[in-house]
Amino acid sequence: MLLFRELNRSKCKTYLVACERTREALLIDPVKEHVARYLAFLGYHRLTLNALVDTHTHADHPTGAFLLKDLTDARLIMHRRAPVPAVTEHVEQGDMIAVGDLRLQVFHTPGHTPDSMSLYVGDRVFTGDVLLIGGTGRADFAGGDAGIQYDSITKKLFTLPEETLVYPAHDYRGNTSSTIGQEKRHNPRIAGRTRAQYVELMASLKFPMPDKIQEVLQPNQSAIEDDKANFPGLSELNRVRQLSADEVSRLLASANPPLIVDVREPGEYNGELGHIPGSVLIPLRELAGRAAELEAQRNHKIVAVCRSGVRSTTAAAILEGLGYESVYNLKEGMVDWNDRKLAVER
Ligand SMILES: [Fe+2]
Repeated sequence: MLLFRELNRSKCKTYLVACERTREALLIDPVKEHVARYLAFLGYHRLTLNALVDTHTHADHPTGAFLLKDLTDARLIMHRRAPVPAVTEHVEQGDMIAVGDLRLQVFHTPGHTPDSMSLYVGDRVFTGDVLLIGGTGRADFAGGDAGIQYDSITKKLFTLPEETLVYPAHDYRGNTSSTIGQEKRHNPRIAGRTRAQYVELMASLKFPMPDKIQEVLQPNQSAIEDDKANFPGLSELNRVRQLSADEVSRLLASANPPLIVDVREPGEYNGELGHIPGSVLIPLRELAGRAAELEAQRNHKIVAVCRSGVRSTTAAAILEGLGYESVYNLKEGMVDWNDRKLAVER
């Protein structure tokens, strides 16, 4: 009852999973340059695209999910920690994604990125870039954390039955699949290593930054592609000062509270996560053009806020670039603010 195909035939994997009875399909990690191929495949096999899933925010290729969503009206599903506003359904650990008669179980497996998830259906698991065949995804940028990645792999993925087939988002050695049992015993990064040893190993690997990382990451995180000239580079982003939700909450209660600048889209500002009382809304795409509205606050503390803290890091770097000296970012955004049950307006 499960139709399955890898569609790219390259190092970067896109999986199609479909229900044989209803002919509804789900695409996992579509790549933008192959969108026409996917649509041709779906049409040839008389499949309807029901849903798109990005297992995480990709830094190495432009996602095909936005374009496919526009062209087909399929749902775009990502983990709730995903920063991009184009997502139509957010999922969390334990949720089920239904496609025809298929049920895909969501495992939140952060570590490569905070929004990484794996999908378990039938005899197989799609592991994104967290667990690779004989390897693991890098954990040194875009919110990665090697220790958290070790926990995701050993405490979540390795609890699946040994014979479960493993399908990662990348493979650089020409493999197509593995099993949980094989990875448990033979994965050279994980097998026989403690958490501390794994963290040490990952820190010792000096990965080169992928080509064009910022050019790819920025649109995948924010769905804004038209204004690259105004966007800061990686080194500016890395300099942005981060404040936790509790730190921002304490500042708001102080005698000299900061100005909260929320850079999400209006629908998100008034949506399920709400917004911080007293915040002003200036969507990221409008920020450079509307920065004059903040002129009176130039000597004031400003805290940039978005869904998960990614777009707002870009916003903070833009404001710093415009000469605002006291700019901070709300780390992990309104998702974490809500998790901590801090005050919101809806
Ligand atoms: Fe990745």
